[in-house]
Amino acid sequence: MVLRTLSFGLFLSFAAVAGPNVTFNKDVYPILQKRCQSCHRPGEVGPMALLTYQQARPWAKAMREAVMLKKMPPWFADPHYGTFSNNPSLTQAEIDTFANWAAAGAPEGDAKELGKPVEFIDGWNIGKPDLVVEMPNAFHVPPTGYVDYQTIVIPTNFKQDMWIQAAELRPGDRSVVHHVTAFARQPGSLAFAGAEPGIAFRQDREKQRKLTRDIDRPEYIVGYTPGRPASEFVPGEARLIKAGSDIVLSLHYTPNGKAVEDKTKIGFIFAKEPPKRRVVNVMLADPNILIPPGEPNYRTDASFTLQEPATLVRLWPHMHTRGKYYEYRVVFPTGESQVVLRVPNFDFAWQLSYNLEKPLYLPKGTRLEGTAYFDNSPNNPNNPDPKQEVHWGEQSWDEMSEGYMDMAVEPNIGPGDLRRAKESTAALN
Ligand code: HEC
Repeated sequence: MVLRTLSFGLFLSFAAVAGPNVTFNKDVYPILQKRCQSCHRPGEVGPMALLTYQQARPWAKAMREAVMLKKMPPWFADPHYGTFSNNPSLTQAEIDTFANWAAAGAPEGDAKELGKPVEFIDGWNIGKPDLVVEMPNAFHVPPTGYVDYQTIVIPTNFKQDMWIQAAELRPGDRSVVHHVTAFARQPGSLAFAGAEPGIAFRQDREKQRKLTRDIDRPEYIVGYTPGRPASEFVPGEARLIKAGSDIVLSLHYTPNGKAVEDKTKIGFIFAKEPPKRRVVNVMLADPNILIPPGEPNYRTDASFTLQEPATLVRLWPHMHTRGKYYEYRVVFPTGESQVVLRVPNFDFAWQLSYNLEKPLYLPKGTRLEGTAYFDNSPNNPNNPDPKQEVHWGEQSWDEMSEGYMDMAVEPNIGPGDLRRAKESTAALN
């Protein structure tokens, strides 16, 4: 208690000294560069640009409000569990800077103290891609109604196995692209057999599931949802796209009142040399969701046991509008269990990923567990219809209970090797 009071006192006195002299150029600009401009610049998800004093000045009070309430930057991990390298949360001193700047009338300050702008390369957050693969044909999004999920197969013509150091999806028109997922389909795979390259179609998931074998399943490469960073891997780790693979894009469009054309593209940076470890994606999923009407606290559980050692590097829970909570646990072969991520207030609008600051080594025989809760009551402001019984499905009025995980494994191990076939709920891909 004494310690807490003391450190609080120190903060206050620090803020009191810094307070009156806070300027945009010296104090606010570096925070915007580090924590806000990834989204708040033209072409990104933020509703306004915060690149210059002129742009930021009118938002001084709104920014103070947003950072004090911790609405910005968006982040939902319970701080009691795990530490994450992409945690953008501001320090108390940074929050005070916004507060003091607004209180002082948002002064610009000395031009000499303004740092250099961050150089963003043609919108790509991963830097200049070695290769950009774009939808060959534009998709026509109607002004109204709803659009089924669209699948598009695009050949890569890779002559050899390619190791992906970083990948990023860029929607052609963010106002209608709700989310996109990119997969790699191996040559010989039966998934989407007969699909014409470049032509969008609606996939029949049930049919896919019945037709395809474990080995056919396209492998996850990267996803786009607003605010989620691109997939970038540390040196020595990379995703594999095998020679002759196709890229499969799964796109969810939401009409916005205007007829719009979209051409989404994916950029790749290749690893300079073969990596020591391959990064594969696996998921915990409960496909048997059945949420009764009005149920405020519906629980799902999913688990599987690792058949090979793996190192957990990042996690992202995926649920729809009724999702309210997700927790990942690992149970080591010793029986010792650990919560690796808890998202106590899941927000459908923010499908964020959480990168472990210290990747977690999991020996063979470790059990992975995912628990989700859903709120189908009228108290959930995002609930499209509390009177519905809710099942698994793609549209946002259906539900999903998915705990995605990226794991670093030996280069010769694939995602299918990590679990027994009967535990492969990932067949839902
Ligand atoms: C991951 C992307 C992302 C980051 C990082 C981010 N923002 Fe935002 N911000 C958004 C989006 C999207 C919205 C609009 C939706 C919403 O309000 O949730 C928004 C809304 C806002 C608003 C409210 C605008 C309004 O119309 O009232 C303010 C103010 C704001 N952001 C400030 C900041 C500041 C300051 C930072 C950095 C400390 C920041 N944001 C970081 C994406 C982001």
